[in-house]
Amino acid sequence: MTRMLVTGGAGFIGANFVHFWAAHRPDDTIVVLDALTYAGNRANLAGTDVEFIHGDIRDTALVETLLAGRNIDTIVHFAAESHVDRSLHGPSAFVDTNVIGTLSMLNAARAVWLAGDGKPHRFHHVSTDEVYGSLGADDPAFSETTAYAPNSPYSASKAASDHLVRAWHHSYGLAVTTSNCSNNYGPFQFPEKLIPLFLINALHGRPLPIYGDGMQIRDWLHVEDHCRGIAAVLDRGRIGEVYNIGGGAELPNITVIDTLCAAVDAAFAADPALVLRFPGAPAAKGVATASLKTYVTDRPGHDRRYAIDETKARTELGYAPTRTFEQGFADTLAWYLGNEPWWRAIMDGSYRTWVDTNYAGR
Ligand code: NAD
Ligand code: DAU
Repeated sequence: MTRMLVTGGAGFIGANFVHFWAAHRPDDTIVVLDALTYAGNRANLAGTDVEFIHGDIRDTALVETLLAGRNIDTIVHFAAESHVDRSLHGPSAFVDTNVIGTLSMLNAARAVWLAGDGKPHRFHHVSTDEVYGSLGADDPAFSETTAYAPNSPYSASKAASDHLVRAWHHSYGLAVTTSNCSNNYGPFQFPEKLIPLFLINALHGRPLPIYGDGMQIRDWLHVEDHCRGIAAVLDRGRIGEVYNIGGGAELPNITVIDTLCAAVDAAFAADPALVLRFPGAPAAKGVATASLKTYVTDRPGHDRRYAIDETKARTELGYAPTRTFEQGFADTLAWYLGNEPWWRAIMDGSYRTWVDTNYAGR
C-alpha cells in the first residue's frame, strides 16, 4: 500500500490525478498539500476522502512533519505557478514557488527519507515540455536528451526545478523520477488556459483572443492520459530517469480554435436549452462562434512549436495516450457545459479581477 503526498492536488492536473489514483488504487492513502492560490480549488477534490492540508510547499518544517507523521513513502509533486502569461507579468512568484518550493520539498524528503538507514521512497516531479524550448517546423520532436532551452520565466523556473531534482538524486541518492509532458486539457482546468478560456468566452459572446498568427503548434494531452502516464512512471519507471509524456496530437492553435468553435455551434444546434442558458453566445442567435475570433498582439517570446517524442515512455513503460484529440475535446466540452457552477464561481472571483487588471484591452 502506498502512502502518497500530492502537492498541488487542488489544482487542475493534481486534482485529476487524485481522482484517478483513488479510483484505481482505493487501498492507498492520499494526503494533499496545497496553498490554495488563485488556481487551487478545494471543490476539485469533492467526492474523494483524501486528507487535505492547507499549506505551502516552501514550509519545509510542515512538509517534514507530514512526511514523518503520515509515514509517507511517495511524493507526486505538482504544485507550481503554471501559466506562461502570468510569468511574463510577475516572474518572481514563479521562482519562489517552482524553484524555492521544489528545493524545500527536496530538502524535506532528504531529511526524512534518507535519515539513518533510509527507507524505500519515491519523489516524482511533474514537469513540462516547455523546458526544451521551441522547435522549428521540421525539427525532430523533444526527446529526453534534448538540450534544455527554456524561453519564458515559467519554463526557466521549471527547468531549474528539474535540475534540482536531478541533483538530489545524483548527490544524495534520493529516489526520483521526472516526467515532462505536453499541453494538458480536460476537467477542472482553470479558465486562463486556451481551451477553457475560449470555451467560456464563446458561451458569453466574448472575443477569442488569438495570439499572433495562431499557427503555433502544441501537442494536446488529455489530462486523464497524463495521469495514466504518471502512474506508469511510478509503477515501472527507472529511478533517476526522465520520461516525456505526450498526447500524440500535434495541432496548430487555429485548428484547436476552429474545432472548438464548430463543436460549440453543434452543441447549440443539438440542445435548445443552451440557447436559454447562454443567450449572449453567437450560437444562440444563429451566428457562427468563429465570428468571435480576434487576432491580438502575440505573446512576447512565444514558443512556436512543441512536439513530444514518446518512444521512451512507450517502449519502457508501455505508455500510450488512449484518446484522440477529437474524443478528448468532446468530453471536455461536455464537462464544461455540465459543470457551469464550477467555472461560474471562478469567473465571478479573483480571476476576473486579475484579468481586468492585466489584460485590459486584450
Ligand atoms: P495549476 O496552476 O492548475 O495548479 C497548481 C496548484 O498548485 C494549485 O492548486 C495551487 O494552489 C498549488 N500551489 C501553487 N503554489 C503552491 C505552494 N507554494 N504550495 C502549495 N501549493 C501550491 O497547475 P496545473 O496546470 O495543474 O499544473 C500542475 C503541474 O503540472 C505544474 O507543475 C505544471 O508545471 C505541470 N505541467 C502542466 C501542464 C499543463 O498543460 N497544465 C503541462 C505540463 C506540465
Ligand atoms: O506545454 C506544456 C505547457 O502547456 C505547460 O507547462 C503550462 O503549464 C501550460 O500552461 C501550457 O502552456 P501554453 O502556454 O502552451 O498554454 P496556454 O493554454 O496558455 O496557450 C496555448 C497556446 O494558445 C499558446 O500557443 C498560446 C495560445 N493562446 C493562449 C491564450 C491563453 C492564445 O492564442 N490566446 C490565449 O488567450
